[in-house]
Parts: sequence; C-alpha cells; structure tokens
Amino acid sequence: MMKRILWLALVWVIALPLWSEVKNTCVECHQQAEEEELRVPVEQWKTSIHYKGGISCSDCHGGDPKQEDEDLAMSEETGFVGVPEDTEIPDFCGKCHSAVRDNYMQSAHAEALLADEDGPTCVTCHTAHEQQRASLDLINEDLCGTCHDYDQALRLKEAMRAMEGDLISMEARVEALFSEGLDVESEQRALFAVRNRTHRLTHVLDIDRILLELGSVRADLMKLDSRVTEQENIVRNRKRVGTILIVFFLLAAVLARMYYHSLKEEYLKTHGGGGSEEPPTQSS
Ligand code: HEC
Ligand code: HEC
Ligand code: HEC
Ligand code: HEC
Ligand code: HEC
Repeated sequence: MMKRILWLALVWVIALPLWSEVKNTCVECHQQAEEEELRVPVEQWKTSIHYKGGISCSDCHGGDPKQEDEDLAMSEETGFVGVPEDTEIPDFCGKCHSAVRDNYMQSAHAEALLADEDGPTCVTCHTAHEQQRASLDLINEDLCGTCHDYDQALRLKEAMRAMEGDLISMEARVEALFSEGLDVESEQRALFAVRNRTHRLTHVLDIDRILLELGSVRADLMKLDSRVTEQENIVRNRKRVGTILIVFFLLAAVLARMYYHSLKEEYLKTHGGGGSEEPPTQSS
C-alpha cells in the first residue's frame, strides 16, 4: 500500500510540471470558441514558424496562459494586449525582433505609418499569425504593388539578390568545411552576423543607403572569404597528404610482395625444390 502511494506521488511530481507546461488555456479556450475571429488565429498560428519555435499566444499578447477563467487569463495586470493599434505593431513584434524593428523605423514605410498614411506594418507583409521563414520572395507584385508601383520594390529585390547569392555560396563552403571535421565555429559566427546584417537591411528600403551598407557588409564577407579559403587549403593539403600516403603504402606492399617472391624463388633454387610447393623437410 505504502509503495503504491509512493509510486503515485512520484508520478505526480514528474507529471505535474510537464502537464502545466503543455497546458495553455489561451489555445484550449480559443480553439473551441464559436466565433470564427477567435478560433481562426489558433489554426493559423499552428502553421507558423512561431509555433515551431515554441512562441505562443501569450508571448505576443501577454496574459496568463494558466488561468482557466477568461477575465483572469486576459487581465490587464498580466500585461495582456488584445489587438494592438497599427502604430503599436512595430514595438509589439519588436520586443523580440528589435534589430529588424530599428531598421524598419528608419524606413519610408514607418514614416508613412506614423504620418497616418497607409504605411505597411510588420503584419501587412508577414501576417499576424501565419509568419513563415522570410526570404526575398516576399517581395512580389501582389504584395508590393498594392500601394505603389512595383518598380522601386523590384530594384530593392535585385540589389539584395546579388548579396543573397554570395551568402548562400559562402554558407555551402562553411558547411563543407564543417563536415570535413574542421573547427569552423568562428567562421559560422561571422557568417551569422553578416547574414543578419543583410536580411534586416531590407527593411530600410532606401536603396542608396542599402547599397552603401551592403558595401561594408561585403567587406566583412571578403574577410571571411580569405579565412575560409585558408581552411579549404588545409583540407586540400590534408587530402593530398592522404593520397600520397595511400600511394606510398600500396607501393610498399607491392615491393614487399615482389621481394618475398624473389626470396622464395631463391630458396627453392638453392634447396632444389624443383617447382614443388611443399617446403622441404628438415631431414632431407
Ligand atoms: C476561457 C476562454 C478564454 C481564455 C482562457 C482566453 N481567451 Fe482570449 N478571448 C476569449 C473571448 C470570449 C474573447 C472575445 C471577448 C473579449 O474580447 O473579451 C477573447 C478575445 C481575445 C483576443 C482579442 C481581443 C480583442 O481586443 O479583440 C485576444 C488577442 C485573445 N483573446 C488572446 C488570448 C490569450 C493570449 C489568452 C491566454 C493568455 C487568452 N486569450 C485566453 C476567450 C478566452
Ligand atoms: C507573433 C505574435 C502573435 C502570436 C504568437 C499570436 N498573435 Fe494573435 N494577434 C497578433 C497581432 C499582431 C494581432 C493584430 C492583427 C491585426 O492588427 O491585424 C493579433 C490579433 C489576434 C486576435 C484578434 C482577431 C484577429 O485575428 O485580428 C485574436 C483573437 C488573437 N490574435 C488570438 C491569438 C491566439 C489565441 C493566439 C495563440 C494561438 C495568438 N493570437 C497568437 C499577434 C500574435
Ligand atoms: C514591406 C514589407 C515588410 C514589412 C513592413 C516588414 N517586413 Fe520583415 N521582411 C520582409 C522581407 C521582404 C524580408 C526578407 C528579407 C531578406 O531576405 O533579405 C523580411 C525579413 C524579416 C525577418 C527575417 C530576418 C532574417 O534575419 O532573416 C524578420 C524576423 C522580419 N522580417 C520581421 C519583421 C518585423 C518585426 C517587422 C516590423 C517591425 C517587419 N518585418 C516589417 C518584408 C517586410
Ligand atoms: C516572444 C518573441 C517573439 C515575438 C513577440 C515575435 N516573434 Fe517572430 N520570431 C520569434 C522567434 C524565436 C523566431 C524564430 C523561430 C525559429 O526560427 O524557429 C521568430 C521568427 C520570425 C520570422 C521568421 C524569421 C526568419 O528567420 O525568416 C518572422 C518573419 C517573424 N518572426 C515575424 C514576426 C512578427 C511579424 C511579429 C509580430 C506580429 C513577431 N515575429 C513577434 C520570436 C518572436
Ligand atoms: C500598405 C501599403 C504598402 C505596401 C503593401 C508596400 N509599401 Fe512600400 N511604400 C508605401 C508608402 C506609403 C511609401 C512611401 C511613399 C512612396 O514612396 O510611395 C512606400 C515606399 C517604398 C519604397 C521607397 C523607399 C524610399 O526610401 O524611397 C520602397 C523601396 C518600397 N516602398 C518597397 C516596398 C516593398 C519591397 C514592398 C513589399 C514587400 C512594399 N513596399 C509594400 C506603402 C506600401
């Protein structure tokens, strides 16, 4: 009996934190809501990169996801924000994406937003609940052509595209070094920094400024390039030495075999073996 109680207590102690971790009243209540407007965000969020990254309702909206009660879960004291004003959205998302927000805030888009014109917010381009991994494909006529002509958007895309290509090929080179077993941690870190500087730059929009900054990003990439080239030479030399060693051993093996055969022949000749494979016995 005592044993059973202990077992139950153990299960309880282990399961409780797991259970409260999984338990999320925002999701539970909203996915059962009758109003579509309350329910749909859950379905959309489940397709998003945030869902995969473990970012949940309350990470964006605040509130307490452990409260069953609607009013307690969404109380002001827990910092709950329902639907942010358009002008609040950059800070709403920017509490996690601060570097992107800072670049966005310098753009003509933010200027238009704050001037009460139709400047797009983060949500206009990335949606509120269905954010996916971002790429230059987001710059397309359907989205960017709604408020102004597509030409300036396309110029931006082309300026970024060239850089993107260089980054992708550098990524592949660093990856190859990594799989050769080289220590490329500092290269990976440098690449990550260059990559981040590039991608958030898109939000600045101002092409002249972007081209200027891409110049300095490119300088960093060139530095990285020479370091990576050095590492690649190490790999190449290592492979060359490896090949030479293999050839050497093969050659040595062949020579040893030839030497053995000539010794054997010599022996057979001097001991008059006459082609017999049997080794001569000691007594003969
Ligand atoms: C027991 C049910 C219940 C729980 C738990 C709950 N909600 Fe709600 N939520 C509602 C209902 C009903 C509404 C619509 C009425 C309202 O605005 O109060 C709503 C509205 C909202 C809105 C829109 C607000 C607006 O101003 O239009 C957001 C955003 C929201 N909930 C997020 C959350 C988050 C985040 C959590 C968890 C911390 C949460 N909810 C927990 C039932 C719930
Ligand atoms: C990445 C941040 C983020 C996450 C995560 C998130 N929301 Fe939202 N949510 C927003 C934003 C931003 C808006 C305002 C959209 C707008 O202004 O068009 C919003 C609006 C809403 C609304 C109002 C109706 C609507 O669609 O505009 C509800 C309800 C809501 N969210 C519920 C939820 C629930 C429930 C979850 C978790 C399943 C959740 N949200 C997760 C950012 C988020
Ligand atoms: C006009 C459309 C637009 C607006 C407004 C916008 N973005 Fe983006 N965002 C993009 C595009 C396009 C990319 C892809 C850039 C690239 O690949 O170089 C991107 C990339 C991103 C990335 C990925 C960056 C990376 O390192 O790969 C994040 C995060 C992001 N945006 C968040 C935000 C946030 C937060 C806001 C609001 C402060 C915002 N975006 C406003 C279009 C937009
Ligand atoms: C609580 C922190 C948090 C908030 C608030 C938040 N995000 Fe994110 N976001 C993340 C994390 C973490 C990731 C990376 C997830 C991953 O890579 O698995 C991410 C990824 C993204 C990406 C993809 C980035 C890429 O590498 O391509 C976009 C776009 C994005 N978020 C937009 C938004 C927008 C728009 C908002 C506001 C509506 C927002 N985020 C609010 C934490 C947050
Ligand atoms: C909701 C409306 C809206 C959407 C959607 C929109 N823009 Fe804009 N954009 C503006 C406004 C407003 C301005 C400032 C006035 C102007 O130049 O037309 C602007 C200006 C620009 C500029 C000029 C910036 C400068 O400094 O001269 C570029 C480039 C640009 N947008 C690119 C984009 C791209 C790329 C997209 C799609 C990913 C996009 N825009 C989507 C409203 C929008």
